[in-house]
Amino acid sequence: MTVEFRNLNWREEYSVGVPLLDNQHKEILKSIQKVTDLNTKTDDSNVFSDSIEYLTRLMSNHFKDEEDYLSQKKYPFFNDHKKSHLKLMDGYSELLYRLSKGDKGVDKKLVNFLHNWWVNHIFEEDMKFRDFFKKSGSTPSNL
Ligand SMILES: [Fe+2]
Ligand SMILES: [Fe+2]
Repeated sequence: MTVEFRNLNWREEYSVGVPLLDNQHKEILKSIQKVTDLNTKTDDSNVFSDSIEYLTRLMSNHFKDEEDYLSQKKYPFFNDHKKSHLKLMDGYSELLYRLSKGDKGVDKKLVNFLHNWWVNHIFEEDMKFRDFFKKSGSTPSNL
């Protein structure tokens, strides 16, 4: 059975106006696509783990940079946004742990998680601060 995932192509409309964060979003989406492809096309679990590791680094760097930006801009919903990052990381870490233990089928769960949570976060949650800054007329700053 093939599961249909949302199109991961980044489009200009997803720009949050900060080149660093936009580039990180693009890179994360690309990396999720790669993990997804590997998961369906290869049985080499080392290759899969390597790209997961890379993605994990991208994620934690991105969360840090995005949170620095939001706190610097005094985003009023900073705490909620940070909480949603923490929640994402919690769910993700739990799956990584199970993957490292060799739990059966957890690789598929991980791929699903990335699509359901991560992609949703970039395409929906992050758009909230983009819209907020747009509406308040605040010019985005470069990091
Ligand atoms: Fe983000
Ligand atoms: Fe975010």
